[in-house]
Order: sequence, then structure tokens, then C-alpha cells
Amino acid sequence: MRDSAIGLTREKEIARPPKPIRNFYGRRYGKRLRQAQRQLLDQALDPISVPLEPHSFSSTGQSPLDLQKLFGGKRPVWLEVGFGSGEHMVHQAQLHSDIGIIGCEPFVNGVASLLSKLRDSPCSNIRIHAGDVRDLMDCLPRHALSRVFLIYPDPWPKKRHHRRRFMTPEYLQPLADVMKPGSYLRLATDIADYARQAVEEISFSTEFEWEPSRQEDWQVPWNDWLSTRYEHKALRDGRTPIYLTFKRL
Ligand SMILES: C[S@@+](CC[C@H](N)C(=O)[O-])C[C@H]1O[C@@H](n2cnc3c(N)ncnc32)[C@H](O)[C@@H]1O
Repeated sequence: MRDSAIGLTREKEIARPPKPIRNFYGRRYGKRLRQAQRQLLDQALDPISVPLEPHSFSSTGQSPLDLQKLFGGKRPVWLEVGFGSGEHMVHQAQLHSDIGIIGCEPFVNGVASLLSKLRDSPCSNIRIHAGDVRDLMDCLPRHALSRVFLIYPDPWPKKRHHRRRFMTPEYLQPLADVMKPGSYLRLATDIADYARQAVEEISFSTEFEWEPSRQEDWQVPWNDWLSTRYEHKALRDGRTPIYLTFKRL
């Protein structure tokens, strides 16, 4: 009996798909954290963290995240990829209190900044994955997301690094799987070549479309926009923001 129990456990382990080996090229740590920031990370992150099982893959039907449980009720779920210090995500969460928003950010100092914002103005509809968005996408149910924000993604300006950009099939394919048909992906960038590559990738894709009706569509931000730290820097340095909205077909 014990043998068969062990056998079953082993079978289960073998049946699980291996976690993909992924390179992450961004920064995880910046300046040394202050004592108060370390304390916040120790105490305030866990209660709002997305519980990702290390080997769960919704694409194989295995334990996809229960979003209703995550937010304590049924509500539209949005995602912000690379929230930096979290100012845009907190703004969206406060403006749209009826939605739940998941933020992904592997940069620990950014997560600490977000937590101090939440300590000063609590927001019950934010959940965090303090890591790579690809690990989250693996675990989301199909068509789970009603909106996605990609706000000033890492630009990877060197040509040989372009394939590290988010707007490439490695990210767009799993993203398409977890976005609801008819939902929108918002991209803000100050790098013209990033916007060019994004529009090109979208034009190859059968799952997204970009249909601007006039120039303002990419020159003027969305009505509920809040400018971020990276946008401030771009404007200070004389670069022009570009705002693109892609529809999940
Ligand atoms: C240029 S910063 C912009 C931060 C913020 N959105 C803003 O506008 O101030 C890009 C952010 O994306 C995050 N990032 C990079 N790769 C990521 C990934 N695979 N998953 C989630 N976030 C990622 C980085 O850690 C970084 O904080």
C-alpha cells in the first residue's frame, strides 16, 4: 500500500511538465534597501502575493490560478507588466475599484516602493507577483484578463537584444491565450523603434490588431492615464511618448 502511494506520487510528479528554463535579463536589485523597506517586504508582500505553484501550468489544465479566490469575489481582472514603483497601477486600482489588478515586477526595489505607497493609501484590489510575468502567464486561466498595461517596458535598444523585448512572440503568444477576446493591451513607450517593432509584430499576429483611426490615437494618452517615473524622465530628456492600443481579437 505504501509502495502504491509512493508510486502515485511519483507518477504525479512525472506527469507535471517541467518548468521552462528562462533567462531574465533585467535587474532584480538596485540600491541597498532601508530597514523600513525590508520590513515592508517581509510583512506586507505575502498577504497580497499571487500564490504561484512553481510547476502549475494552466495550458495543460493543471491547477490554473483561482482568480475569484485571489480577489475574494468575481470581478474583471487586469494586469500591469513591469509596474516599476507602482504609481500607474495604484492610480488605476483606485480609479476602477470594481476591478482586480495583478502587478508583476521582478525589481525588488520597485516592489518595496509600491508597498510603501499601499501603506500610505491602502488599496484592496491589488495583487502582486514579484517576479517574471511569464511565470504568471503560465498559471492564468485562458481568457482571464480584461485589460493589460505595458507601460514603458525595458527598451533593449541594441539590435541584438531586440528579441528580449516584450512585444515578441515569446511574450505575445502566452499573453494572447490569457486575454479575453475583445480586450485591450495598452503600450506606452518613448522609443520609436520599440513602437515600430510592436506594430510590426502585431501585424504578423492573427490574435491582435492595431486600428488607429487618427494620429491622436498614438500621440495622446488615454483618458485615465497617469504619467510614470519613466515618462517623466523621457520628457525631461526630450523624447516623445507613443501610446498604442492593441485589441485582442
Ligand atoms: C523601464 S521600467 C518602467 C517601469 C514603470 N512601468 C514606469 O513606467 O515607470 C520597465 C520595468 O519592467 C520590468 N520588467 C522587465 N522584464 C519583466 C518581466 N519579464 N516581467 C515583469 N516585469 C518586467 C523591469 O523590472 C522594470 O521595472
